[in-house]
Amino acid sequence: MIKGKNILITGGAGFIGSNLAEYLAAENHVHILDNFSAVDDRFIRHLAESGSVRVIRGDITIERDLSALDRYDIVFHLAADSDVRGGSERPQFDFKVNAEGTLNLLEYMRRKDIGEIAFASSSTVYGEATKIPTDEDYGPYLPISSYGASKMAAEGFISAYSHYYGIRGTIFRFANIVGRNSTHGVIYDFIRKLQKDRKHLEILGDGTQRKSYLHVSDCVQSMAYVHERSSRTDIFNLGNPGTTSVMRIAQTVVEKMKLGDVQFVFKGGFEGRGWKGDVKFAELGIGKLTSTGWKNRYGSDEAVSVATEEMLPQILGN
Ligand SMILES: NC(=O)c1ccc[n+]([C@@H]2O[C@H](COP(=O)([O-])OP(=O)(O)OC[C@H]3O[C@@H](n4cnc5c(N)ncnc54)[C@H](O)[C@@H]3O)[C@@H](O)[C@H]2O)c1
Repeated sequence: MIKGKNILITGGAGFIGSNLAEYLAAENHVHILDNFSAVDDRFIRHLAESGSVRVIRGDITIERDLSALDRYDIVFHLAADSDVRGGSERPQFDFKVNAEGTLNLLEYMRRKDIGEIAFASSSTVYGEATKIPTDEDYGPYLPISSYGASKMAAEGFISAYSHYYGIRGTIFRFANIVGRNSTHGVIYDFIRKLQKDRKHLEILGDGTQRKSYLHVSDCVQSMAYVHERSSRTDIFNLGNPGTTSVMRIAQTVVEKMKLGDVQFVFKGGFEGRGWKGDVKFAELGIGKLTSTGWKNRYGSDEAVSVATEEMLPQILGN
């Protein structure tokens, strides 16, 4: 457990960031930087009101917002345009926020002499890997989305800043993260759609897409655990062994919502994928993660099931 540190979490108001802020605030001084473009302060208000975290409104693409910040011991960098699906409509926006925003942040860190960054990257950097499960040393990377490309660029700048200026970076390539405070992703979409129409569920793609899902509590705790133990700039996949299909997720959500006959309608996909840029099959090798001694609490199917139970009352408001 990281203890007694001054920590900045960029994107700390969002899904994963708010879970991370709550976890780290128990033993550290946590400040959150967020521009609230994805979500308001609903997931962190209680932390700010109790004095557990300080919230700063600011944007990683705006240099003066970053130069106004204090010095911290560690930056957990999660701020991003996390809308993978929208990438083909606006690739330059992915570049601006995810790649250039990361570079701006590294430059601020260099000026303030901040020595550590933990970065939320993504399995999308691998593109359509021919080796599954995909380990960290797989290559070449051929991302099929501008989101994946922008994360790859950000990883590259962290590596370069590490070499130039001695900033130590732990780069985490996340599988699909699920759990409370989620405001996007397949479970969220299915709950929202079934809230509007309890008889039909539109599924993007052909439903056979299979990916590995990781519960957000395992994600944030393993980030802290691994970063603390890693002594050089390094890359770790965060995921689970095995995969869960989109069909199974649809069935889980229907079952947890206690709905009877729901007709699945396959629509809007691209080559059986959910959308252009969607990787159909993804499973990360997690041997490097487990070699640190870390063990996830939930497997992939279980993570989907627990996440659905956590998200239902948040979304449906009961
Ligand atoms: N959720 C997943 O399954 C998943 C998978 C792989 C990687 N990631 C990465 O993990 C991180 C967190 O993802 P999430 O799912 O919590 O997304 P999210 O959209 O809930 O959180 C991102 C946060 O960043 C903030 N933000 C966006 N642009 C910003 C800017 N220019 N300046 C400051 N703040 C800004 C948003 O307001 C939001 O609060 C992201 O970097 C994302 O790319 C997530």
